[in-house]
Amino acid sequence: MRTGAPFKIAVFADLHFGENAWTEWGPRQDVNSIFVMNTVLRQETPGDLIPFQRHHFVIYLGDVITANNIMIANASLYWDQATSPAKDRGIPWASVFGNHDDAAFEWPIEWFSTPGIPPIHCPQTATSYSGEECSFKGTGRLELMKNEIKNNGSSSSYGPRNLWPSVSNYVIQVSSPDDQQSPVAFLYFLDSGGGSYPEVISSGQVEWFRQKAEEINPDSRVPEIVFWHIPSTAYKVVAPKSGIQKPCIGSINKEDVAAQEVETGIMDLLANRTSVKAIFVGHNHGLDWCCPFKKLWLCYARHTGYGGYGDWPRGARILEITQKPFSLQSWIRMEDGHVHSEVVLS
Ligand SMILES: *[C@@H]1O[C@H](CO)[C@@H](O)[C@H](O)[C@H]1NC(C)=O
Ligand SMILES: *[C@@H]1O[C@H](CO)[C@@H](O)[C@H](O)[C@H]1NC(C)=O
Ligand SMILES: *[C@@H]1O[C@H](CO)[C@@H](O)[C@H](O)[C@H]1NC(C)=O
Repeated sequence: MRTGAPFKIAVFADLHFGENAWTEWGPRQDVNSIFVMNTVLRQETPGDLIPFQRHHFVIYLGDVITANNIMIANASLYWDQATSPAKDRGIPWASVFGNHDDAAFEWPIEWFSTPGIPPIHCPQTATSYSGEECSFKGTGRLELMKNEIKNNGSSSSYGPRNLWPSVSNYVIQVSSPDDQQSPVAFLYFLDSGGGSYPEVISSGQVEWFRQKAEEINPDSRVPEIVFWHIPSTAYKVVAPKSGIQKPCIGSINKEDVAAQEVETGIMDLLANRTSVKAIFVGHNHGLDWCCPFKKLWLCYARHTGYGGYGDWPRGARILEITQKPFSLQSWIRMEDGHVHSEVVLS
């Protein structure tokens, strides 16, 4: 963060790179998704001469790739394409996993239709594969993460070993350059599972959060902002019934909340911390609202990718943090440049 300047975060959700590489539309939609990201980053940083990395950041909020549709051994190729808009601008980024990022490959059903010849059938259980033919079963979370953090610009990390195979659990400190000692905010990232792992934030992760927060923010003085992919069941509680009305703010409410399987305590913990300002999730492409829940906000990002279901216009949620006094504001920047759903979250 640069002195006096706001710290701006672009959230890219549900890009779903790598779909149907054997068709024309698959690769084309990835090109379109790159275009969305480039447009958003260009419009949010117009004519900016200050080095980007000092006050800009990108978050890849899961379902970066659609691994169940990627028939090669190493899906990092697509992951790298998806993170290239941040990397090419020298903007640091971080990522969390969604339910599609390490899903096992599924044979496209159309390959079995006449006159298609059924290829080798790989077993459904992901653990017991052996042999060349099934070697494209998918690239695991650790492998994807290992490849990402080889990049200079990536701020992601593996998270504590004792939480594996839940991987993207870590915290990033936002600080101002003239006072590294006093954090402006903590950004928490949690792996909400899915793919090779149940769709849940486990009690182990809750305990990790509790201990981490106790260690680095014992008096809850520093604001905390939280990111994961699959909404918790609390999102169902606050979801607008039809139209989006105050106090909720957003532009599309086109489907039901697809929540995690169970709630093991993360919401209780977060709602009790006065320092937690907002949670951001992706997963539901047809939802982009923010609604208050107790003392914090539950927000969706905005479907950024041309991959994945749904045809709602693409965009990205932007967050802006200012330091003195602290504030967290947000809006959605669309592919066509227009801005909507401005909201003050703290
Ligand atoms: C996967 O591909 C990436 C490049 O996209 C490469 O850096 C990495 O070494 C590859 N990993 C394996 C296990 O082949
Ligand atoms: C990585 O970043 C460091 C520090 O900014 C720089 O000196 C180095 O050249 C970079 N390496 C690559 C491979 O870009
Ligand atoms: C949250 O606060 C409530 C009410 O003070 C308390 O009953 C509950 O145990 C707290 N939960 C956690 C996880 O600290």
